[in-house]
Amino acid sequence: MRNFYEIESKFFINIANYMNNWENYLGIFDNNTEKKALTQRIASHVQTLWNQFNQDRSKLDKHYMNTGDGFQAYIASFLLPNIERVFSTLVRDENIFAIESLFLVEKDELVITDFGCGPLSGTIGILSVLEYIFSINHKLILPKKIHINAIDRSDKIVDFGKKLLTKSLFESVVVSVEHITSPEKVTKNSDVILGINVFNEIPLKHRAKTLNSLYSKLNNGGLLLVMEPGQEEHAKSLGTLRNEFISANNDGQIISPCAHRKNCPLSTETTRKDWCWFRHSWNTPKTIALIDKFSKLDHHELNFSYLFVQKNSVQSAETFFARSISDEFPIEIKAKSPQIEYFKNNLVSGEKEEFLKMVEYEGGLNKILLCTKEGELESAFVIADPTQKPYRRGRRVKLDSELYMRAKERN
Ligand SMILES: C[S@@+](CC[C@H](N)C(=O)[O-])C[C@H]1O[C@@H](n2cnc3c(N)ncnc32)[C@H](O)[C@@H]1O
Repeated sequence: MRNFYEIESKFFINIANYMNNWENYLGIFDNNTEKKALTQRIASHVQTLWNQFNQDRSKLDKHYMNTGDGFQAYIASFLLPNIERVFSTLVRDENIFAIESLFLVEKDELVITDFGCGPLSGTIGILSVLEYIFSINHKLILPKKIHINAIDRSDKIVDFGKKLLTKSLFESVVVSVEHITSPEKVTKNSDVILGINVFNEIPLKHRAKTLNSLYSKLNNGGLLLVMEPGQEEHAKSLGTLRNEFISANNDGQIISPCAHRKNCPLSTETTRKDWCWFRHSWNTPKTIALIDKFSKLDHHELNFSYLFVQKNSVQSAETFFARSISDEFPIEIKAKSPQIEYFKNNLVSGEKEEFLKMVEYEGGLNKILLCTKEGELESAFVIADPTQKPYRRGRRVKLDSELYMRAKERN
């Protein structure tokens, strides 16, 4: 799959123009020549904001989107990666079906609510997805209008995002953007709700209430995407938010990543050391790569955690047995070690003798952590074979013979 900025667009937003407008705002390149001093200055602000987000939250000013440095740093180094996170997640086969279901009948107006929208990163992400699905599925019916409920406490960033979007729209499209300061003030029910990298900025005790309030204004068949950073703290908190959301909303069908509606086995409520996160590799746009050179950040791999839900889904998503929530990794192979004894005694599929034979395989044994349809964690075992394509985090696992040798994990 190509990156969002490589999608050939012709329906809603001219993505090539959007990228040019973004480049022009930063002004880092002048006739293909980079302005070094400017790039270094932006990179230093990016580094500061990155540290505040990821290392010392106590230093993050609540109004970072309103200060010149934080604002510019966000546009330079956070906006496009977040668009790509949304785009790359939603264009996966397992999610496309739900999005297409919104366009099977004619819609006067598609309403997108982008909570904590910042420069409208989530909105651009979903518009890129729409460009993609409408270009490959000609049976879908284009909405006549699009309305965006842009919820954010910062006027400055929404204003910027709105200008960048409006400048890049195709002429024939009617898109309205309404700036709203809090979810309670939303008046139009939505078809799509996005909460991208915002819940971690809201006090824990208010998160579920805010999410449920947004969801109560989602149309039947509508979609909700919550995305958070991939680090332990945020991914675990999203697991807890998911548990609260599921218990309050029976009609929320999880499209991905979970294979189940039970409690998340990796939320803050569990004692497990692992957490549920995913990643996406992309071709970093050259301006971001240049800023990275000075800021020493690396954007080749985008990490995140997420939850994608449909209200009363039209048809349940393709069923699968489990999701790989780790990459394949080698495990210590000592035939009688307590860990191997535990797995041997807790096999849920496969034979003990076969498992013990695998353990003795001289090439080594690899393990993959799975989150199953029953909401349990399991380990799956494969012989380490460098000629085989390894299992990657995020892969859906079918039951049949795939990952035949499995054992219960401690919760
Ligand atoms: C990290 S930015 C995310 C922006 C965008 N969604 C993205 O992923 O690039 C978080 C945004 O949420 C906004 N925000 C945080 N808490 C908010 C709240 N309680 N109400 C409205 N906006 C809020 C901030 O102003 C900021 O623009």
